[in-house]
Amino acid sequence: MTAALLDVTGLERHFDGVRAVDGVTFQVQPGEVVSIIGPNGSGKTTTLNLVTGTIPAHGGTIALDGARIDHASTVDIAEHGIARTFQNGRVFATLSVADNIEVGIHSQLQAHRPFRRLSHVFLLRWIPLLAELFVAVFGTPAARRERAGIDTVIDLEVDRFEARLGPRRDDPAYTLSYANRRRTEIARALALQPKLLVLDEPTAGMNQSETAEVLAQLLELKAAGQAILLVEHKLDLVMTVSDRVIVMDGGRIIAEGDPQTVRTDPAVIEAYLGRRRESGSGAAAPGSLSEDERSETETKRGDLADSGEEGSA
Ligand SMILES: Nc1ncnc2c1ncn2[C@@H]1O[C@H](COP(=O)(O)OP(=O)(O)OP(=O)(O)O)[C@@H](O)[C@H]1O
Ligand SMILES: [Mg+2]
Repeated sequence: MTAALLDVTGLERHFDGVRAVDGVTFQVQPGEVVSIIGPNGSGKTTTLNLVTGTIPAHGGTIALDGARIDHASTVDIAEHGIARTFQNGRVFATLSVADNIEVGIHSQLQAHRPFRRLSHVFLLRWIPLLAELFVAVFGTPAARRERAGIDTVIDLEVDRFEARLGPRRDDPAYTLSYANRRRTEIARALALQPKLLVLDEPTAGMNQSETAEVLAQLLELKAAGQAILLVEHKLDLVMTVSDRVIVMDGGRIIAEGDPQTVRTDPAVIEAYLGRRRESGSGAAAPGSLSEDERSETETKRGDLADSGEEGSA
């Protein structure tokens, strides 16, 4: 058995009285695509926030490639090899597509960021800052070589979304459509060449054809051996792309297995449909989730439905 790429044990996080993540244990193997699904508020995003160091855990351990990362900073975790996108999408609005992607690899730069390790030492932070300024103003042969490498990475990532991002490489992100901003965010995460790609609802707010495009890109990444931890409400996409599905409810894992097993698990059907029954909107159907029921589980959020000036995609 191969060592797990990501090994999460007994993870805990509460917000005041709410146990948002309550003893969660799971692994992601190298090259594996694992999805976390569950009703709204079940702790999916909080789990991703803990794994990526966005917020600290109140208990449990997280290891990447055998090294503990549960007390590491987000920057260190990114350097260890975890890159993420956010549920509501986050790009720098005034930066171009290319510059947004470049931000993703900034932490990895060597020649442009001499003495970068000293930036962790409070009293010596001025040394890397001055060194970076020197490199920016005068340049060095190593920095010029590194610049060429950065441009290659940006080109590769823009090419991944060629038809969409290619013509918009130098456009500021605020002029992009919503879907293209999300593509830019995924490109920025991939520029890090992460061991584990963490995606929080990458298709939220996207229409059917945009969602299909993202699915095709995820399948391509999977075929290339990219390990992915995905949170997503669109169950058809989840069932198509995932090797394994984890179902959360109330901060706990209530089911886990291959897509087909999870789809027909009574506890999963109850978690999704029990809320409908409680609200008096009908009885749970036996067997697997139907198309209607699955589409009902998709989150409709006003804040995600904005569209940019350039059109639908
Ligand atoms: N920063 C916070 N402060 C207070 N409570 C929070 C915070 N973040 C999450 N919670 C609470 O923790 C619980 C889990 O939230 P989380 O965002 O992880 O759910 P989710 O499964 O991602 O839901 P959704 O599908 O709606 O995105 C919810 O009850 C939520 O209100
Ligand atoms: Mg969420």
